Amino acid sequence: MESQHTEHHNSSQRRQEIAKRRTFAIISHPDAGKTTLTEKLLLYSNAVDLAGSVRTRKNQRHATSDWMTMEQERGISITSTVLQFQYDSHTINLLDTPGHQDFSEDTYRTLMAVDSAVMVLDAAKGIEPQTRKLFEVCRMRHIPILTFINKMDHMAREPLELLDEIEKILGIPAAAMNWPIGDGPAFQGVYDLAKQQVLRFTRTEHGQRKAPLTVSDVNDPKLKEALGDKAHRTLQEEIELLSVAGAAFNEEQFRQGKLTPVYFGSALNNFGVEPFLQELVRLAPAPQARLTTGEATVDPYSDDFSAFVFKIQANMNPKHRDSVAFVRICSGKFTKDMVVEHPRYPKGLRLTRPYQLFAKERVSLDEAYPGDVVGLANPGLFAIGDTLSTGTPVQFQPLPRFQPEFFAAVHNKDSSKHKQFHKGLEQLVREGAIQRLHRADQSHVPLLAAVGELQFQVLEARLASEYNVQIDIEFLPFSAAKRIIAAASTVQQVAWPNRALHVLDDDGNPVVLFASDWDLRFCRDKHAHLDLQFEDLGFTVAAAS
Ligand code: G4P
Repeated sequence: MESQHTEHHNSSQRRQEIAKRRTFAIISHPDAGKTTLTEKLLLYSNAVDLAGSVRTRKNQRHATSDWMTMEQERGISITSTVLQFQYDSHTINLLDTPGHQDFSEDTYRTLMAVDSAVMVLDAAKGIEPQTRKLFEVCRMRHIPILTFINKMDHMAREPLELLDEIEKILGIPAAAMNWPIGDGPAFQGVYDLAKQQVLRFTRTEHGQRKAPLTVSDVNDPKLKEALGDKAHRTLQEEIELLSVAGAAFNEEQFRQGKLTPVYFGSALNNFGVEPFLQELVRLAPAPQARLTTGEATVDPYSDDFSAFVFKIQANMNPKHRDSVAFVRICSGKFTKDMVVEHPRYPKGLRLTRPYQLFAKERVSLDEAYPGDVVGLANPGLFAIGDTLSTGTPVQFQPLPRFQPEFFAAVHNKDSSKHKQFHKGLEQLVREGAIQRLHRADQSHVPLLAAVGELQFQVLEARLASEYNVQIDIEFLPFSAAKRIIAAASTVQQVAWPNRALHVLDDDGNPVVLFASDWDLRFCRDKHAHLDLQFEDLGFTVAAAS
């Protein structure tokens, strides 16, 4: 009786913990303000007292390894971090998506572990190429997206034009939830369209502290005075226009990723940040069910524990040469030292040394719930996409691979390091950092393929620092890779164009690298009678426009 009671209590406590979680990532183009908005979300949730602390941590982190020195030199962030903070009785997990142009598959894969995304746009630039690519990955998973149009304190494009651009380029309705009041230096704050309230903010020095806020009616004389008659009339007209012409918010469509609510603001000045955070916890979904290979779903509220590995990060602490597997919890409850089922370890696996990460700092963790991300010390145990579970075994659908866009031959400079070279490559392939191909001739030179160019430099730095191996990277002039589905004898008959290269993937399937789309089309047409199927090596993200 007693134990039944405790069980009931535990399960209802778990339900509450799950329901209050919001796990999301920010998708944006570099410089749109992702880091600044992250800092301000932490400021408004009282996770930091002064904005700027995340950046400081970022710099400290850079100093900790060779690999990260490279990040520092390039002024970019390669490693994802997971931030957890509390706001308005919600637990928020923010997964960072590395955002340089040369991003890797990890950036995409992070989006496999979230329940929603925040799209940050620069108000002067609108949709930029990287935003679009990341949006396409969200679309694949039907992830709900909230849009924050940042930098309204600068020269901005017309808000209506920005909404129009989202609709045209991304192909989903954009529903304005608030409206900017003035722009550039005259930017005052936002008008909340549902509550019909004016939210006027005051600038603080460097935006380090929360911006004082005044709430009023649109007809407030003080607002009119601050804006001037003309700008005030424009605001009134725009609000009127929106009420008849704008896309109306529809929660169901939002939840299916078919409509995005749009908020205006300035992260740097803390304008519109708190209203956005309030909306984020209100609208972003709690942890969602996840699909298994058998097309069944695992309910986050079920008693059995389940989780999957979406990222493996090596060399986080070069002193220990360690590697951490990032695990997204999908159901049940995680407790330190629990034993889980794992397809490669029939006796079960004890999950010791779990961490939660705040920037570079590790906090040891005793329990965690669906929606949370836990870092597990990973001495080569896990691979990307592994499912961990208790109770009835489950196997989540594999994480998608993404179509590589860069190809290179990698030469080991010192043949006496043959073993280390291959061991290092093997490890990096398992981490999902890079895809490996093999020349179909006998040269044995490994060919590698990646989503971002930078991955090759990461590979070079890591082989040097972790395996003491020096390599030469020879970029190859291919832009398209296709797996050929046909009988081996048929593939043998094909005379591939001179500028193409016939290789094998890790499973021995034929892959052809083409120098251009034109070559690919030519080849496809020429061999139409052979009935060859040309398949991508992974999910193809729409070309940037
Ligand atoms: P990212 O992570 O998306 O790459 O962008 P980040 O936040 O680093 O912001 C890029 C630049 O844009 C930074 O300026 C930042 O201060 C500025 N910024 C962010 N939000 C706003 C905003 O609301 N208004 C204006 N006017 N600027 C904004 P920086 O000069 O490159 O860096 P810093 O010297 O400020 O650190």
